Amino acid sequence: DQVPVLAIDGPGGAGKGTVSRLIAARLGWHLLDSGALYRLTAQAAVKHDTALDDEPGLARLAETLDVAFLAEDGDARVILEGEDVSLAIRTEEAGERASRVAALPEVRSALLARQRDFRKAPGLVADGRDMGTVVFPRATLKIFLTASAEERARRRLLQLQESGTDASLSSLLKEIQARDARDMQRAVAPLKPAVDAIELDTTELSIPDVVDRIQRLLADLG
Ligand code: C5P
Repeated sequence: DQVPVLAIDGPGGAGKGTVSRLIAARLGWHLLDSGALYRLTAQAAVKHDTALDDEPGLARLAETLDVAFLAEDGDARVILEGEDVSLAIRTEEAGERASRVAALPEVRSALLARQRDFRKAPGLVADGRDMGTVVFPRATLKIFLTASAEERARRRLLQLQESGTDASLSSLLKEIQARDARDMQRAVAPLKPAVDAIELDTTELSIPDVVDRIQRLLADLG
C-alpha cells in the first residue's frame, strides 16, 4: 500500500479520461483506464461470439484478456489479441455493451486483480467508476468528477465532430442518461462517490482548471 494512488471516479463524459491522462503525464505516474477493460471484455465477447448475458463465459474472457496498452506519440493504442481496437472500443455502441458487461459481478471480480496490478511506483492515476470505493479503497486521494448530463452530451458531440462523426445532441443526451442510470442502479459497485471522496463539478470548469485543482489537492497532502 506504499505506492500512491489518485482515484478519479465519476459518470461518463465528466472529463475523467482527459484529466487522468494529463495528471499522470505531469506526475510521471502510471495510468489505469479501467473503463477500457470493460470495453475490451465486451469487444472480446463480440469477437468470440460470447453472449452478453453469459456471465461465466464473459468472466473467463475478462480473466484471460490478451491486451496491451501502447503509448505512441502521446497517442494511446489499445491492442486486443494482436488487433488494434483503439477506435472500435470508443463507439457509443461499445460503451453501451461495456456497461452491460460491467453490471455482472463475476466479470467485475475477474478484473479486480488485473486493475490492482497497475499500482506501481512511482504512483498510479486510476480512472473509473469504483476506483475509490472498491478497487483502491485506501487510495491517497479520491476525486469524484461530475458535470451536468447536458454538458457531458455537448462535450461528447464536440469530440465526435472533431473525429468527423455526426451525431445529434438529443440522442447523445438520452444515451448518457441511460448509461448513468444503469451504472448507478446496478447491485455491484454502483457509481457513487466514496464517503471520503472530494466532489468536483466540472460543468463550468476547463480541463486545465480541473487538472490544476486536483494537483493542488494532491500537493496539499504533502
Ligand atoms: O469510462 P468508460 O466510458 O470507458 O466506461 C465504460 C463502461 O464501463 C461504463 O459505462 C461502466 O458501466 C463501466 N465501468 C465500470 N467500472 C469502472 C469503469 C467502467 O463499471 N471502473
